[in-house]
Amino acid sequence: MPLRNTDTRWGGVAQTFHWLIAILILAQGAIGLTMVDLGMTPTKVKVFALHKSIGLTVLALALLRLAWRLTQRVPRDPPMPRWQHIAARVSHVLLYVLILALPLSGWLFNSAANFPLEWFGVVHVPSLTQGLDPTLKTWSLRAHVVLFWILIGALTVHVAAALWHHFVRRDDVLLRMLPDEGRKSRTGVLR
Ligand code: HEM
Ligand code: HEM
Repeated sequence: MPLRNTDTRWGGVAQTFHWLIAILILAQGAIGLTMVDLGMTPTKVKVFALHKSIGLTVLALALLRLAWRLTQRVPRDPPMPRWQHIAARVSHVLLYVLILALPLSGWLFNSAANFPLEWFGVVHVPSLTQGLDPTLKTWSLRAHVVLFWILIGALTVHVAAALWHHFVRRDDVLLRMLPDEGRKSRTGVLR
């Protein structure tokens, strides 16, 4: 599989970013929703630190992914009605915004709450605020939670669309986001 995108498929780099970020985001959702209910123990502190470190990793990966996306050619959409091209474009932009805004809101909340921040205990990450900011703390936490549920909604539509392309329209949209050199195209060439 080529590393770069072609006219008919996503390359290795774009696919790695896509699936790695997808796995990390799902793990983050599960960790985030579980950790807030943990009792005040050293485990809670460790799980919070893990959540923040993975979240910052997602932010860095999302920035790199965006840079790669903006400098690469993009596979052509299969023939479909104009509204579907637009819907795909809008939902993909929304997903990019969310994978950036979600970790940013977490970082902002952490800063406004004046909590320390270290990436996996090795790199000190600076605060985005000048110390404690109670108003910003409230709003950034609300944003963090609301953005998460918007992401879950957008992701549900995204996955449904991918499955619809694969099983109903029977085109290459899902196949071209999956690794497999020898995979046969359903509608044309898939290189
Ligand atoms: C991909 C990125 C992220 C996702 C999907 C995510 C998701 C979540 C979720 C689902 C919760 C539970 C919300 C609730 O029901 O109360 C949560 C809480 C939290 N997140 Fe994140 N998060 C991400 C990144 C970050 C980052 C980068 C930080 C900080 C640097 C962070 C800090 C926090 C904190 C401190 C809480 C607990 C808030 C509280 O005390 O209620 N998150 N996150
Ligand atoms: C948090 C999880 C996910 C996020 C944030 C996400 C985000 C995105 C984004 C932004 C794109 C557009 C690619 C670009 O223009 O650079 C994309 C494409 C794609 N995603 Fe996801 N995705 C996620 C999970 C999934 C899952 C679970 C599936 C499969 C069931 C999936 C299937 C696809 C497919 C098939 C494409 C290619 C669409 C095309 O070729 O036009 N994604 N994804």
